[in-house]
Amino acid sequence: MKHYNVAVVGATGLVGRTMVKVLEERQFPVDELVLLASERSAGKEIMFNGKPVKVQKLEGDRFKGVEFALFSAGANVSLEYAPKAVAHGAVVIDNSSAFRMDEKIPLVVPEVNRKEIFRNTGIIANPNCSTIQLVVVLKPLHDAFGIKRVVVSTYQSVTGAGQKGLDQLMDELSNGGLREKKFPHPIAYNALPHIDVFFDDGYSKEEWKMMKETSKIMGEPIKLTATTVRVPVMGGHSESVNIEFEKPCSADEVRNILSKASGVIVQDDPKKNVYPMPILAKDRDEVFVGRIRKDDTVKSGINLWVVADNVRKGAATNAVQIAEVLVKGD
Ligand SMILES: NC(=O)c1ccc[n+]([C@@H]2O[C@H](COP(=O)([O-])OP(=O)(O)OC[C@H]3O[C@@H](n4cnc5c(N)ncnc54)[C@H](OP(=O)(O)O)[C@@H]3O)[C@@H](O)[C@H]2O)c1
Repeated sequence: MKHYNVAVVGATGLVGRTMVKVLEERQFPVDELVLLASERSAGKEIMFNGKPVKVQKLEGDRFKGVEFALFSAGANVSLEYAPKAVAHGAVVIDNSSAFRMDEKIPLVVPEVNRKEIFRNTGIIANPNCSTIQLVVVLKPLHDAFGIKRVVVSTYQSVTGAGQKGLDQLMDELSNGGLREKKFPHPIAYNALPHIDVFFDDGYSKEEWKMMKETSKIMGEPIKLTATTVRVPVMGGHSESVNIEFEKPCSADEVRNILSKASGVIVQDDPKKNVYPMPILAKDRDEVFVGRIRKDDTVKSGINLWVVADNVRKGAATNAVQIAEVLVKGD
């Protein structure tokens, strides 16, 4: 079996470290692993397949001989270095928002639009974490009943804001919040209806990403409105999702379809306290769905609760799955 030279850009971050772990766990056929981060991290070591690998400072010529480059170091780094990696012959799978809405660049969740991977010209974008877990659930329901409109509210972990988000919560819980702040307000014992920057129309960029990326991944316009909220959870995003359908459907039909959907696990027995929760989704690659019930305020509507590990399926695992599809071929 052919093995590949793989670079991870942002290897010391929450997503990058998880990418290294996921490559190992899923036995991705890695020949050489090249770990790249900022100058601050040069020389640090990260274990891969039982051996320490040294982190190097990111520079354009580090991509010589690299076949897959998984980027998770923010949009500015991707804009500058992804084209350099492509020029060296690598396929880039990018976790930042840099290329997601570029028409020429596929935006992929393998369970939803796997075929798009093969129309890449060097860069494939990984969607936003809250969008990935949502579309894995929306797609099979759209195929069955036709989505008319979606209203989603999110409860997003501090880990969605990277290591600094997690550090702020830990610091507030243990030391009273003396260190550098990632969020504009305390996050411990709080909820902030604020993720990323705000636009003039009142929406946050995170909300905008969910609305725009969903249609691009689903391959057709999907009417969706979102409110995104940061909560003091240490890993795992939750979403309250209200869907109105074209065709009639029952809660049992939805449960049945989702229980057969790729990458989805239904946890739905609320009277026995069984429903998805971030602590159950931690370190898992699937998307968990529960609290499935009819919304009787419209002709055909459903409410459900969707949870996934944002650093895994919402970022690292989705990226590695894309690379696996490329290795396997169509
Ligand atoms: N966290 C999530 O749930 C999630 C989900 C989807 C997508 N993403 C995206 O993934 C990316 C990384 O997120 P994260 O949560 O892993 O953030 P993080 O924990 O803050 O890690 C950032 C990583 O980027 C590196 N980096 C920063 N500036 C750099 C530079 N100028 N040159 C080279 N490397 C640089 C850092 O290296 P040093 O350690 O050396 O500073 C670190 O490895 C972001 O684009 C984010 O939007 C995150």
